[in-house]
Amino acid sequence: MYGSDTIPDDPDRTAFRKTEKKYKLYYDSTSKKKKLPRPVDLSEVIDFRSVSESFERTGDIRSGVSKVENRFDKPVFGLDDCPGFYFIPAALSIEEQCRWIKESLVSFPQPPNRTNHNAVYGGIHDLFNAAKNEQVLVKEDSVADDATFYNYKWASSEELDSSVNGDNRKPVSASVLLRRLRWSTLGLQFDWSKRSYNVSLPHNKIPDALCQLAKKMAAPAMAVGEEFQPEAAIVNYFGPGDMLGGHLDDMEADWSKPIVSMSLGCKAIFLLGGKSRNDEPLAMFLRSGDIVLMSGEARERYHGVPRIFTDTEHAEIGCLEKQLSDEDDICYLEYIKTSRININIRQVF
Ligand code: OGA
Ligand code: MN
Repeated sequence: MYGSDTIPDDPDRTAFRKTEKKYKLYYDSTSKKKKLPRPVDLSEVIDFRSVSESFERTGDIRSGVSKVENRFDKPVFGLDDCPGFYFIPAALSIEEQCRWIKESLVSFPQPPNRTNHNAVYGGIHDLFNAAKNEQVLVKEDSVADDATFYNYKWASSEELDSSVNGDNRKPVSASVLLRRLRWSTLGLQFDWSKRSYNVSLPHNKIPDALCQLAKKMAAPAMAVGEEFQPEAAIVNYFGPGDMLGGHLDDMEADWSKPIVSMSLGCKAIFLLGGKSRNDEPLAMFLRSGDIVLMSGEARERYHGVPRIFTDTEHAEIGCLEKQLSDEDDICYLEYIKTSRININIRQVF
């Protein structure tokens, strides 16, 4: 998983990599003053929202796509040559989207959940609040140096000026750390160094509301009478220029069970490849509120996110901007205007 850096022999030549490069954000350096994003041809990107709209209007669907029978009030679509893949456009209401954006920023990165910052700072509490209050993370110098024990605390910049910082490390601001937040893990904790779930790491259960939502959304991919058991979730945070390289999620025991993947914030391009990196991937848009399910054969397919759109025209977060226009919500709005969050929920055993 997340193995784009460790692909064996000549990864640049694979069809997946070529398509990734096609959609990835590059800047044209034609103008010295202003960096302009290189224009990209989006004509081949499947747009399930327009598939859904034209289906509602005319009952017709583009070739290769089918409507799947389900218990929702919303249409669920599948791909004819990819059994186990399901796309639910606008599955989440705008209120639900805001709720999960807030949780992803405020509560999901809280210990004992781990984040990419753990490796350097140990567990950091209250990152989002600290960013809101313009705090900085400083190393506490009162405790003896111990490589296994991290002692960082939040301080205001004034406090910082009056204290002598114990080591030479430059204090880092919470807003920089928030920008650098790339993932957090809920429920059973995934150990990236061992590429497996580590059941001995302290963890909380997946929050009940998220669990219920995932169960409901997983239904189209579940056998009759079976219920999805959410045990772990990985939350990905994407900023401008960030991507998620082609990978397989292969650390869960039962691949017949779906991964339930929710998109929040800026629009993105998702690539769904084949069982080999040499298979040419399909590209599709993921918008805030869309849900993708990958189960069965679809779980054996490489996939990734080469691009998120943070410009006003393509980000398509107008509804979120309206919903988060209260003064209390400005901090969330500022973040999500140029970010995408993906919550993907898994049954591990
Ligand atoms: C993942 C993943 C897809 C996305 O985290 O394993 O495939 O939409 N995410 O961000
Ligand atoms: Mn994945």
